[in-house]
Amino acid sequence: MTLDDIISTDVLVVGAGGAGIRAALEASKYAEIDVTLIAKTLPGKSGCTVMAEGGYNAALCNVDSADSIESHFQDTVSGGSYVNNERLVRILVENAPARILELENNGALFYRTSEGKIDQRAFGRQSYKRTCYSGDRTGGEIMVTLVDLLRSSNVRFIRGAAVDLLLDGNKVTGVAAFNPEGAKFFLIRSKTVILATGGGCRIYKVTTNSFQGTGDGYAIGYRAGAELIGMEFIQFHPTGMVFPDSAKGILVTEAVRAEGGILLNNLGERFMEKYAPDRMELAGRDVVARAIYREIRAGRHTPHNGVYLSLQNLSPDFIEERLPQTLEQFRDLSGVDITKEQMEVSPTAHHVMGGLHISEKTETTIKGLFAAGEVTGGIHGANRLGGNSLADLQVFGYIAGHNAAQYSLESSLGKIPDEQITQIHKVVISPLQSKQDGMRPSQIRHNLEELMWTKVGILRNKKNLTQALENIQRLKSIPMKIVNQNTTYAYEQLEALQVRNMLIVAEIVVKAALFREESRGAHFREDFPETLPSWRKNIIISKENIHTVPVVVL
Ligand code: FUM
Repeated sequence: MTLDDIISTDVLVVGAGGAGIRAALEASKYAEIDVTLIAKTLPGKSGCTVMAEGGYNAALCNVDSADSIESHFQDTVSGGSYVNNERLVRILVENAPARILELENNGALFYRTSEGKIDQRAFGRQSYKRTCYSGDRTGGEIMVTLVDLLRSSNVRFIRGAAVDLLLDGNKVTGVAAFNPEGAKFFLIRSKTVILATGGGCRIYKVTTNSFQGTGDGYAIGYRAGAELIGMEFIQFHPTGMVFPDSAKGILVTEAVRAEGGILLNNLGERFMEKYAPDRMELAGRDVVARAIYREIRAGRHTPHNGVYLSLQNLSPDFIEERLPQTLEQFRDLSGVDITKEQMEVSPTAHHVMGGLHISEKTETTIKGLFAAGEVTGGIHGANRLGGNSLADLQVFGYIAGHNAAQYSLESSLGKIPDEQITQIHKVVISPLQSKQDGMRPSQIRHNLEELMWTKVGILRNKKNLTQALENIQRLKSIPMKIVNQNTTYAYEQLEALQVRNMLIVAEIVVKAALFREESRGAHFREDFPETLPSWRKNIIISKENIHTVPVVVL
């Protein structure tokens, strides 16, 4: 394996999910700018955007005229337990309506009210019906639209995984990348880079995330010296499938509860009455996930160790109209007819609230490095509202594309220092070629997923977190043994690169979780169960250190 090929571009976008494509499209509006998009799989197939099924939040006020931008702001900040970056939230809520109308003008189809406006449903922890939707495949509809726009744009697409950033001092000058087809490492020189690599919940055994959700952007940014914020906050979506094993963790959209689904334990009790009597099943995801977890732990669980999600009060026609994908998913994967039978569900790792620390222009702490979407942190605080992710991708994808394009207009291609190439050869490429002893990457991944699920899950404590950290560090020290040296499709090398990233992401999550000695949003410490006013601050972690900073308020 060599590092021969060098491609040059003005704006390089890493990741072809909703944020990456939106950013690339925006940057490509500048005729004088060359835009390249690199991703591990084809646009439309990659990313977790399709996993945001239930909707897109925007205060359009089509259904509830009393809704407002201000109310969307307040819900997002209170839902995030007051550690959101309020300036970023303000940008999110103010721009969400324009970005969805733009999607609609570009052909995205959303369900409509009888007056022909975009329909909006109630979603968790929100004061009004604010969530615009396309049945239960809203993320899918948005992706189809974006991919269509991408095809008719002049954005160049390259298949490959970004491995590491190239830097000249604190300024980004490109990326080193790997294409498993042909086992080729190559360099991309770029005036600016946008990381839009999505989330990293694949570090957990049970997750909604696609196979690409290995947290590459967090690790790549971290290794390059970028700051990350809020990495202790991992969202466990309350409802994932529980059987068969092959379907465990697959998302059961919040839209099911939004349309009237209720949660019951094995005694037939509607247990949310106990945990959140006001909001019930539409309480915050952090609250609902913990409630389900506690019911299961107390032994009031279903045969497959979940709780029941029942649509008993809804007609089959209504279910078919509003939740067609869920209907199909349960029929095809579990043999359950949700128009007649109850679903079994339990929490599943869904979203990383933390991520790269960005400015309002989406610039990270590395010059010329921008980021958008789930790879960034700070917007959603300690708990993201369902429906805010799709809005986030479109709002901040647009901003990142625009600002990266502007930045590249004012800069020139930087150097790629020789010592970095030597380092990449030594640390990344050579170990992938050697026949050394060690553990296969898939085995390390498996051990890590198990560890994170059992020790760094919904309820945390110092003992488990410390054990997790020790074990992650042990796993990091084990050389990866690459048995399959086939170069036609170098799957095992790609896996090794991903596992290298997953181990770093897991370590960062655990260090931040140990550091936050209180409970807030999705981060619950059994040994520190209170939410403490003195902890209303953000944890910043970088290669150099871990520290706190005050929350950015308006
Ligand atoms: O449940 C869902 O449909 C997920 C939506 C989201 O995470 O925003």
